[in-house]
Amino acid sequence: MVKTGPRPLVAGNWKMNGTTAMLKEPRLLAGMLRDIKLKCEVLVCPPATLIRRVKSVMKGSRIRVGGQDCHWNASGAHTGDISAEMLKDAGCTSVIVGHSERRANHAETDELVSKKAKAGHGAGLIAIICIGETLEQRKGGKTLQVVSGQLKGSLPEGATAANTIIAYEPVWAIGTGLTPTVAEVAEVHSHIRADLAKLMGDDGGGVRILYGGSVKPSNAAELMGAANVNGALVGGASLKAADFIGIIKAYM
Ligand code: PGA
Repeated sequence: MVKTGPRPLVAGNWKMNGTTAMLKEPRLLAGMLRDIKLKCEVLVCPPATLIRRVKSVMKGSRIRVGGQDCHWNASGAHTGDISAEMLKDAGCTSVIVGHSERRANHAETDELVSKKAKAGHGAGLIAIICIGETLEQRKGGKTLQVVSGQLKGSLPEGATAANTIIAYEPVWAIGTGLTPTVAEVAEVHSHIRADLAKLMGDDGGGVRILYGGSVKPSNAAELMGAANVNGALVGGASLKAADFIGIIKAYM
């Protein structure tokens, strides 16, 4: 697929999956991508415990590694948390912030997500800011309003097309096998694009807007073909190299 606009990104979010046995997948993926001319960037976000090892098994490949979350402070008394500086030090280029699982399970607000994104920027990471409506909100006709509110509240001062990526992930599509129609995806993405222009001026046109939620090899080309879709954030289908490459192939 050849698309105009910002260079697409296919990002894999492993969530809380993966121990040593899983390292064979990124190793396989790096091998599969070695001789392929890619029209997109590829990012893998393993659990923090595997970041260095995933990076090491993919050494020499163009695949980048990212974190799944970060604290808003650079260091300090925050038991169990990981800072953006630590992710950068471990070799990450990006960090996902505000994933709906963190918003739901850890009561993360837009304000907090914005602070985390800012921390990511401060450490030299690209912040992948996730937004998306619940099924109830969609059924109530509130999707565009919800997405606009989350975007405005989660986008920190200093966000640019170079340091920020937006991931539109309808909560009801995550891990369920359900997806919005291509027309519904295009509607939300063009709405986000217009909001970005209002919030960021000219730079808004260059921000990548990923779609996420039950992306798999069989629906990737269709979803990635929608207007203003600049890549995918992939959960379940990023765990196996064979599936993940099936999605990356939408951009070959
Ligand atoms: P899924 O998850 O691809 O398993 O639906 C997407 C995500 O949560 O980023």
